[in-house]
Amino acid sequence: MASHQNNSGNLHEKIETNSFLLIVLTFITISFGGLVEIVPLFFQKSLTEPIRGLEPYTALQLAGRDIYLREGCYNCHSQMIRPFHAETLRYGHYSVAGEYVYDHPFQWGSKRTGPDLHRVGGKYSDDWHRVHLHNPRDVVPESIMPAYPWLEENLVNDKTIGDHMAALRKVGVPYTDAQIKAAGDEIKGKTEQDALISYLQVLGTHLK
Ligand code: HEC
Repeated sequence: MASHQNNSGNLHEKIETNSFLLIVLTFITISFGGLVEIVPLFFQKSLTEPIRGLEPYTALQLAGRDIYLREGCYNCHSQMIRPFHAETLRYGHYSVAGEYVYDHPFQWGSKRTGPDLHRVGGKYSDDWHRVHLHNPRDVVPESIMPAYPWLEENLVNDKTIGDHMAALRKVGVPYTDAQIKAAGDEIKGKTEQDALISYLQVLGTHLK
């Protein structure tokens, strides 16, 4: 046959006419490309090390973060400011990887029904947040954010917070024994609203 003058022509025909072999080889090729792109990121310091001045969440902030997850705030709010002019103009400095090193799991989100919250820390007073969480319409009349009035009545769970911090330490968050031991007493008697607000108020404030 004229088209098969050499071995490499044969090899091509074998691969291209055997769909199983073609799938396997395609998969290997794509996996290799993926590894080359992804694996170096695990070793790049700017992506894996905390920014200077990053502090682990205090017991109260961490308890607030749990409320944030439980209530599904991430369904409407992202926590990642992209490096585009329009975003930095509205929200402040774009987010950098080293700010999330102690976040397990991170709260980047993928939906912005409401504004990004990555730098909301310090933007409003605690009192503003109290009114806003109780009924958003009282401060932003056109708001479609749900009200969370139960947060000011429920007390935070002070029983499990120490274990939570101990678990986070296992994945690299530098909590001390003393911090873990004191955690329960530290947040005893605080409301879920106190905790959530202390979490919101620290967001994005470590980057100088
Ligand atoms: C259904 C979507 C939705 C959910 C769920 C939601 N929000 Fe909102 N949020 C909004 C919208 C829309 C706004 C803008 C209007 C306003 O300020 O109320 C907003 C505004 C905010 C703001 C003010 C941000 C700024 O920069 O002005 C904060 C803080 C906030 N939300 C926190 C939360 C927290 C905490 C939760 C979970 C307890 C939550 N939101 C749940 C939609 C939502």
